[in-house]
Amino acid sequence: MRIDILTLFPNMFADFTKESIIKRAIEKKLVEINVINFRDYSKYNNQQVDDTPYGGGAGMVLMPQPIFDCVEKIKTKDAKVILLTPSGKTYQQKKAYELAKEKHLILICGHYEGFDERIRSLADYEISIGDYVLTGGEIPAMAISDSVIRLLPGAINERSHIEDSFNENYLLDYPHYTKPRVFRNMAVPDVLLSGDHQKIAEYRYQASLEKTKELRPDLLNK
Ligand code: ADE
Repeated sequence: MRIDILTLFPNMFADFTKESIIKRAIEKKLVEINVINFRDYSKYNNQQVDDTPYGGGAGMVLMPQPIFDCVEKIKTKDAKVILLTPSGKTYQQKKAYELAKEKHLILICGHYEGFDERIRSLADYEISIGDYVLTGGEIPAMAISDSVIRLLPGAINERSHIEDSFNENYLLDYPHYTKPRVFRNMAVPDVLLSGDHQKIAEYRYQASLEKTKELRPDLLNK
């Protein structure tokens, strides 16, 4: 898979590609990540990329030209273009599975007050990572890339995502424990030390259900 990230702040991605599972996925050539400063595509004086909004109002708006030229230059026939915006559709694990099947993703990070509305015409998907406003699309681009890359075959042990939260059954992941057996008076449930796999599976299912009821009752209606 190839992921192109269009941003005005490429330095924000410096460590993202150099640590842990993402780093290993790049080394194994499961994914290629290109971070592109779309300011380089501006045809305006001083490589301007934004201007004040027509009709007045606060803040600056990203102009279409630099982003259109950049996308048109790098787009392949398989590319899916994603606009990161708080007004997009809320991102869910289901979408991560869908995107993990693509060959080429182009993620466009906004900044300032937002995008000129005409930039929306470039996008296959407009995605928000939640109902809150960030200073830009860079953290959402990392969140989406991360969630997609870990699903690429060979990136992590595949059993890990079968057991993830938000899978088909819409339950949160079951509780995990490791050593020590007792920590500050909190003990690991005995069943996990029993060696009885059937009982362990039942315990985990019940614990998932309880945890979902407590923390995310909305998921139980799905
Ligand atoms: N840009 C600013 N806030 C955002 C959000 N919540 N999701 C996606 N892009 C954003």
